Amino acid sequence: MPPSFHIEALREAHAAPAALVHRAAFAASWSVEEIVRLSAPPAGIGWGAWREGALLGFILLAVTLDEAEIVTLAVAPKHRRIGIGAALLAEAARHCAQSDVRALFLEVAEANDAARALYEVSGFAQVGLRKGYYPRPEGAANALVLRRDLSPAGFQGG
Ligand SMILES: CC(C)(COP(=O)(O)OP(=O)(O)OC[C@H]1O[C@@H](n2cnc3c(N)ncnc32)[C@H](O)[C@@H]1OP(=O)(O)O)[C@@H](O)C(=O)NCCC(=O)NCCS
Repeated sequence: MPPSFHIEALREAHAAPAALVHRAAFAASWSVEEIVRLSAPPAGIGWGAWREGALLGFILLAVTLDEAEIVTLAVAPKHRRIGIGAALLAEAARHCAQSDVRALFLEVAEANDAARALYEVSGFAQVGLRKGYYPRPEGAANALVLRRDLSPAGFQGG
């Protein structure tokens, strides 16, 4: 069955729906202005997953020379587990590999089982641990640093 959404580059005009998706996905959400700033070229780049004019999820990257960091990835709660997160990661990886970016990095909370499962099936491996990285009311949470190899030898597509 074809996917019930399509992926396209995120533009400044998409910052308002992106802020809504971000708010639904994270306790500490970002403003429209923050999303505009983070998605601005030359470093910022992003993609959104759309269905019938509605933004269902998005990813933002910060590119520095031959490395890129996933700044955020969020899928609206009602639209999870239909492949949007994986498709956004695949699009970002494909774009990076074609632009001579050799590695994709990200930080994920140690307790974020859904995201960790997604990153694992998307080819990321742990390369670091940042203790107490995320301030939380219940106590600071650890972050794992994950990396995906995008070098010609390591990039398998997808
Ligand atoms: C993490 C997140 C982006 C996943 O998005 P998604 O669109 O639901 O993910 P996908 O449908 O593409 O999932 C692909 C695979 O990842 C794994 N996965 C995703 N969510 C999972 C979950 N809740 N439990 C277990 N495995 C999961 C599965 O292997 C899944 O394949 P399957 O559905 O065939 O089993 C989404 O849950 C989200 O927005 N969470 C809140 C924000 C967040 O934590 N972002 C990441 C910050 S680092």
